[in-house]
Amino acid sequence: MFIDTHTHLFSDQFKEDVDEVIEKAISRGVKRFYLPNVDTNSVERMNYLADRYPDNCFPMIGLHPCSVKENFEEELKILKKELDSERTFFGIGEIGLDYHWDLTFKDQQKEALKVQIQWAKETKLPIILHTRESFDDTLEIVQSLNDENLSGIFHCFTGSVEEANKVFELENFYVGIGGVITFKNSGLDKIVAQLPMDKVLLETDSPYLAPTPYRGKRNESTYIPEIAAKVAEAQNLTLEMVAKTTSENALKLFG
Ligand code: NI
Repeated sequence: MFIDTHTHLFSDQFKEDVDEVIEKAISRGVKRFYLPNVDTNSVERMNYLADRYPDNCFPMIGLHPCSVKENFEEELKILKKELDSERTFFGIGEIGLDYHWDLTFKDQQKEALKVQIQWAKETKLPIILHTRESFDDTLEIVQSLNDENLSGIFHCFTGSVEEANKVFELENFYVGIGGVITFKNSGLDKIVAQLPMDKVLLETDSPYLAPTPYRGKRNESTYIPEIAAKVAEAQNLTLEMVAKTTSENALKLFG
């Protein structure tokens, strides 16, 4: 069995055929999907999928850094209400800092991240961290708030071994490895070769970042085995071992 720890199945790009997409993934052994929310607009569709596939789709709640604008406090208020509702969420995400697209709301991004880390500590849910050109700042905030109630994933990890080790020093943190490992010249396979497998999770981040040979097309959870195969090659393990270890890691983190 494989677990996709990060997939946006509620995205408009899956609107027409989400049932087929889910069934196809399940038929290839990808049986659990963790859904990181984006903002208040994505909650309804995410919850719909969680209700439709209670054994497969696991919703998480949070405000994505690219959705942090001048109204972020209002957004957070609505999402917090959702978190406090009857519904079960499996993580706080995705949250973090993104300095790639727009620096206008850099301070607000940091504020939103801190607030949501507090939610995670109160609920003891793992955080799903998005970092883009912002690893040091993100790490610094997480370090400053880290305690035994905090756990999480540095999602779509593409950093160095040194950066990975800083993540692992946080104790209850993992790195999510996605399609980038299959990209020619990404060098991520050489990094993953040096990571402890008990800290590695698999993810697609679909519909984005499809692995080779589907690069540029819509990504799907169905491609988790392609990512796992590359991890297996890097670590000199069998595909079965990678499936087993990464699934155990995910279940340990998400409970
Ligand atoms: Ni994502």
